[in-house]
Amino acid sequence: MRRAIERKREGEALSGGDWEAIVAGFMAGSVDDAQMAALCMACLWRGMTFEEAYALTRAMVDSGETIAFDGAATVVDKHSSGGVSDIVSLVAVPLAAACGVRVAKLSGRALGHTGGTIDKLETIPGFNVNLSIDAFKHQVERVGCAIAAQSATLVPADKRIYRLRDHTGTVPVMGLIAASIVSKKIAGGAHAFVFDVKTGRGGFMQDARAAHELAGWLVEIARRFGRRATAFVTNMDEPLGHSIGTGIEIIEARDFLSCHPEPLEGRERTLVLRIVEAMLEAAGIEGGAGRVLAALQSGAGYEKLVEMVEAQGSSRAALESLHADANPSVVASAHAGWVRAMDVVRLGNAGRRLAEHDPVGGLRIAARIGDHVERGAPLAYVYGTDRDAARSLESAFEIAPEVVAPTPVIVSSS
Ligand code: URA
Repeated sequence: MRRAIERKREGEALSGGDWEAIVAGFMAGSVDDAQMAALCMACLWRGMTFEEAYALTRAMVDSGETIAFDGAATVVDKHSSGGVSDIVSLVAVPLAAACGVRVAKLSGRALGHTGGTIDKLETIPGFNVNLSIDAFKHQVERVGCAIAAQSATLVPADKRIYRLRDHTGTVPVMGLIAASIVSKKIAGGAHAFVFDVKTGRGGFMQDARAAHELAGWLVEIARRFGRRATAFVTNMDEPLGHSIGTGIEIIEARDFLSCHPEPLEGRERTLVLRIVEAMLEAAGIEGGAGRVLAALQSGAGYEKLVEMVEAQGSSRAALESLHADANPSVVASAHAGWVRAMDVVRLGNAGRRLAEHDPVGGLRIAARIGDHVERGAPLAYVYGTDRDAARSLESAFEIAPEVVAPTPVIVSSS
């Protein structure tokens, strides 16, 4: 292993056999955490080729079991490359299932400044993310959707490397991200995938060219495993939704699907509807955007979320019992003007930190890029025990004296 780390440190591409031996050694205990972390750091500095990403994906898939779904109906999964206030999975999975798509999703925990669907779901009292393969399959057949975590049997190598990357600041590596995402998707057993690759200040691939390249890698690796995939590149120059944290994002997803207090407008809704439409297309289900909207407006999407929550050990009452504090602290604007930019990484890290001490702790963004704000107007609200966070977060918002045009949320789709 030491030699492999040195070769990567010197910029060499490792072979398929190298990656196989590294992952097998890591799982068997002959490669330790320090060596794996050093390798990840060498990958961060030196990069990885596409072939290395593919080889690592294969090795990670082989570290555990893979699920196979029987029957003719296409099973679909969606995955994001990591975002802030990214509730798309929480909403799109039940909404697509309510439209007749069978959705089998393996998700991850928080990574770097981005939130993790698994951490968010665990704030629903009683919700079980650790499903056995049989329970996962059975739920997808019976309910239409399930969201579970990597485990000791499903991509265990991703579970361990993912955590190490989070702890060692080695997340934003195209090859590591591609292998982590696609290995989970292959192990989860779906036949078709919809990927959402974030670009801009809050994405791991901040540069749009790199995000497009990652999107291409995800689709091509999936194709090599015999799966169909489409990828969106979407803008993360600002948090996608309003809430940043864990339970606070569950509240937003729940309220989105139940159209409470009113149907949500904006970037989040645009992206959710388009992604669910793509999931229907992938499953060969007709009806497109109209069908998705009808499932949202009729409450069928919400009822499917409740069904999934109940199937995974919790209850409607537990889901509906989550509430954010009625008296948050305010992050107030120091100037009047137009919101030009946000430090999304800082906001994401702050939301993650606040949620560590309080399951419904976090932030709610009150102003979007392009909005006009008066001096003293709220830019965000802070929920949780660390009320001092509000003071330091004002500088995460850049206020300009001139009008700023908002950017569209969907950059491209392929
Ligand atoms: N999502 C994943 O599952 N892995 C990554 O590396 C990034 C986002």
